[in-house]
Amino acid sequence: MLFYAAIFLVSYIFTKKILHKFQNHPPTPFPTIPILGHLYLLKNPAQIHRTLVKVSDRYGPVVQLWLGFRRALLVSSASAAEDCLHHNDIIFANRPRLIGAKILGYDYTTILWAPYGPLWRNHRRIAATEILSPHRLHLLADIRAEEVRSLAKRINDHAAEGGDRTIEIKPALLELTNNIMMRTIAGKRIYGEAVETEEGKRFKMLLKELLAIGGAFSAGDLFPFFKYLGLNKAAEKRCKAVFVKYDKYLQELVDEQRGKTMEENNDGDDSKLNNKKKNLIQVLLGLQSTDLSYFSDDIIKGLVQILLLTGTETSSSTIEWAVALLLKHPECYNKAKKEIDEHVGRDRLIEEQDLQHLPYLHCIINETLRMYPVAPILPPHESSEDCVVGGYHIPKGTMLTLNLWAIQNDPNVWDEPSKFKPERFENVEGDRVGYQFMPFGSGRRACPGENMATRVVGFTVGSLIQCFEWESGEEEVDFEEKVGVSMWKAKPLQAKFKPHKEMIKLLSQI
Ligand code: HEM
Repeated sequence: MLFYAAIFLVSYIFTKKILHKFQNHPPTPFPTIPILGHLYLLKNPAQIHRTLVKVSDRYGPVVQLWLGFRRALLVSSASAAEDCLHHNDIIFANRPRLIGAKILGYDYTTILWAPYGPLWRNHRRIAATEILSPHRLHLLADIRAEEVRSLAKRINDHAAEGGDRTIEIKPALLELTNNIMMRTIAGKRIYGEAVETEEGKRFKMLLKELLAIGGAFSAGDLFPFFKYLGLNKAAEKRCKAVFVKYDKYLQELVDEQRGKTMEENNDGDDSKLNNKKKNLIQVLLGLQSTDLSYFSDDIIKGLVQILLLTGTETSSSTIEWAVALLLKHPECYNKAKKEIDEHVGRDRLIEEQDLQHLPYLHCIINETLRMYPVAPILPPHESSEDCVVGGYHIPKGTMLTLNLWAIQNDPNVWDEPSKFKPERFENVEGDRVGYQFMPFGSGRRACPGENMATRVVGFTVGSLIQCFEWESGEEEVDFEEKVGVSMWKAKPLQAKFKPHKEMIKLLSQI
């Protein structure tokens, strides 16, 4: 028996290897354990980008993995990324149909999870024209300015209370980005300056729950038989419980705006609403009244859900990383401060329009996004046809796992990649360098919020530099990463601060 088993095993491995070579598939780590595939390689999910670098260091920039029953393509070089996101852009513009995305994402109808096709294109068009286009961003500039000022005021008030002037900065940053997005989407703030509103508390809790499960694969995604044996029920139940709560909240937001629109229309003065800057939900409700079959409440809630999710955590995490890096590198902080002093001065607060005259600040943001991209592994894409990547044959239905962090920290491309050197981005225009630096992704599925994000992040970091002197609240700033829906600082940043003397008067006038 043992003899036959050994013969069977050897010939199985041998045939698989020969077949693999013959089919021109990318290299695959050995062993591929039956059923589990290469899941044994994915240790330490909190730093999965670093774990996967070990795999690509050993097997090359294009690797085929089996995650349970799911075929995945691990890509870790700029040229292979270009193959996926440029040469095969349309083929990889799909997303895999994950169970969580079905339950939380209104049956794959949201902008993030919809398959490449007319529905997704429509979402992108609406998001672009109604809130993310340069024109709309220009119209909504007041909201961002008021919220960034409000953040500076809150921090300043914290100092004025005479406390120890140490602040955990992330919660304040999340309130900032939540307020910006909520005002843009539903025309209201959910965090006040002094006290936290009930709605603010509720939203924070919902977001926390959504973030806790939103980034995870469930076992049923990797082992389809789990579903048929009913083994995935607990995970699905957890997802559904979060979905029900979040959906209820979103429905209330939509109904509230529906009520307001009707009230204002009943005033008999149609121009009132038309002349105002409508919020996104009002625009979507307007479209609903002309095409109810398409713009259902679920479609509206789905779009709002994803914009609230993608537009808040990402920017606030990037600002936190940038401040942490500046605390560790006072020479960079001083250089940015000098640039702001020269171009803005101390008689007025920095404005968003000033960003175009602050190239060094822009370098700081780029360098932060290079070292700590919020999506170190891009959200998964999936090939809709057979294609070629790095010279290898990639079958239809392969899940793309693109290690953006590996590409942006590749020592063969970047000089001393683990060092914070904003100067490396001097003379670089825009927010990407080919496929070597693309923190917002590339191709059809690239981030549609890039313009808004760079404005919010640049403007906020600029204001924090202009208004306050910062110092680390810890002995040494900790840079451990934790990957979830985005890449967080594992240990929230504690920072000591005091207002710059020359700015006290301006700050007190906000
Ligand atoms: C620093 C801030 C941000 C970074 C670094 C970032 C980065 C990214 C990345 C890497 C992707 C995935 C691209 C891919 O799958 O290939 C993405 C997708 C997306 N982002 Fe952002 N993002 C940021 C802020 C925002 C903001 C402010 C919004 C909107 C208000 C936004 C909306 C979206 C949406 C809707 C998608 C899904 C696009 C699709 O699947 O078609 N993001 N983002």
